[in-house]
Amino acid sequence: MYPILPERPADAAQIDTLLDLTFGSDRTRKTVYRLREGVAHLKPLAFVVRDEDGGVLGSIRYWPVAIGDAGTPAIMLGPVAVHPDYQGQGLGRALIRHSLYTATRLGHGLCILVGDRPYYEPFGFVGAADRGLEMPGWVERERFQVMELAANALQGVAGMVGKPPKGRKKAAA
Ligand SMILES: CC(C)(COP(=O)(O)OP(=O)(O)OC[C@H]1O[C@@H](n2cnc3c(N)ncnc32)[C@H](O)[C@@H]1OP(=O)(O)O)[C@@H](O)C(=O)NCCC(=O)NCCS
Repeated sequence: MYPILPERPADAAQIDTLLDLTFGSDRTRKTVYRLREGVAHLKPLAFVVRDEDGGVLGSIRYWPVAIGDAGTPAIMLGPVAVHPDYQGQGLGRALIRHSLYTATRLGHGLCILVGDRPYYEPFGFVGAADRGLEMPGWVERERFQVMELAANALQGVAGMVGKPPKGRKKAAA
């Protein structure tokens, strides 16, 4: 099994290539990219899997977001990608498990994502629209998901997902 390692600045170009390969080069048209524009990803939650030569085989990143009028801090999982030649070996699940564990340990309370429900349900994600959350653009209702990393973190939280207020470095619990 390949170890899960912190992303390094030098990985960035390879990660872009991997994301173009797995999601297509038009990936930035998606609604989630509107929430990422101009906002740095959360470095403590950026992980990669590398081969012996340093080639990036898998990557996961998270972005800080804020929910509703109260601007409740949350994190947005993704993109997560594994090189097609290495898919189906557990790397994606390992990247997700490790990063969600780290996020919980760091005190983040809520995680959202847009992705395939059957893949994320086993981690504990549930429908976000059913819980009163909204995305600022079109996403398939079924694919919009949320998970509490801290007990009852969703209580009283509803409304539109947006970018975090400027100046906030970290999405706190
Ligand atoms: C999704 C992705 C990250 C999974 O990584 P991976 O290393 O192949 O996944 P794992 O080996 O940990 O898990 C494989 C299992 O997940 C299932 N799976 C993979 N993608 C799935 C999906 N989109 N929906 C449902 N199940 C999925 C596989 O069928 C397999 O099931 P099994 O263990 O019962 O055989 C990878 O396939 C990928 O990069 N895909 C292209 C980019 C992408 O779609 N990213 C996620 C956006 S939602």
